[in-house]
Amino acid sequence: MNMLTFPSEAELNEAAAGVITDLVRTKPHAVIGLATGGTPVGIYRTMIRSYQNGMVSYQQVTTFNLDEYVGCSVEDPQSYACYMQEHLFRHIDVQPMNIHIPDGSVRDPEAECRRYDERLEAVGQLDLQLLGLGHNGHIGFNEPDHSLISSTHVVALRDETRQANARFFDDPGRVPTHAITMGVGAILKAKKILLVVKGSDKADIVHRALTGEIKTECPASLLQTHPNLVVMMDEEAGRHFR
Ligand code: F6R
Repeated sequence: MNMLTFPSEAELNEAAAGVITDLVRTKPHAVIGLATGGTPVGIYRTMIRSYQNGMVSYQQVTTFNLDEYVGCSVEDPQSYACYMQEHLFRHIDVQPMNIHIPDGSVRDPEAECRRYDERLEAVGQLDLQLLGLGHNGHIGFNEPDHSLISSTHVVALRDETRQANARFFDDPGRVPTHAITMGVGAILKAKKILLVVKGSDKADIVHRALTGEIKTECPASLLQTHPNLVVMMDEEAGRHFR
């Protein structure tokens, strides 16, 4: 595990975006797993800047997002598909046919999970998976439980996750109850994992996840088993490691 802390969010964003752009420059047809939420916004902004400066092209890149809310269509402004367009995709030259996000609006979410796994299997292995960290230790929407699921699946969101994500909704009562998430199998199969953690409210959970027992009750603790894990934190999130 390679653990790095940064004195400012700008430096953290720069370093995390650098991992992605370095990969794409050395491997133009890289397959990258992407996350949503508050954590990656600044990273994506930094990636857009380096694209606009002509330093990198995403023309041959393939992307797979971690998750999507059940019941949210691509047009829904609260959907992760919309988030990705807004915060990254529409600003860079990634090809729409190379973008993969589970479709939360389908009638049969279970079938959508199988379809997503087929797409993942077709690429074999993600070159890089970008992850944020939930306050309860979730990665993707793999919520703490007495067992975890390896494949893409429908998950009931925990109350604490719905509360944390209510900040993105005008009406907190509208936070979906279920999501489709990539399972821990595809995440852990990635050649490299970049876990980014920001803010003092994540200091306890990131310390527990990376130094505590490996337990499904803290899904992020499974990352300890990954042979190529890079953790980037700001000083607030990383304060227990000092
Ligand atoms: C998002 C995702 C989640 C978030 C986590 C942290 O696609 O899979 O695991 O990374 O909930 O969210 P933020 O960054 O909003 O604190």
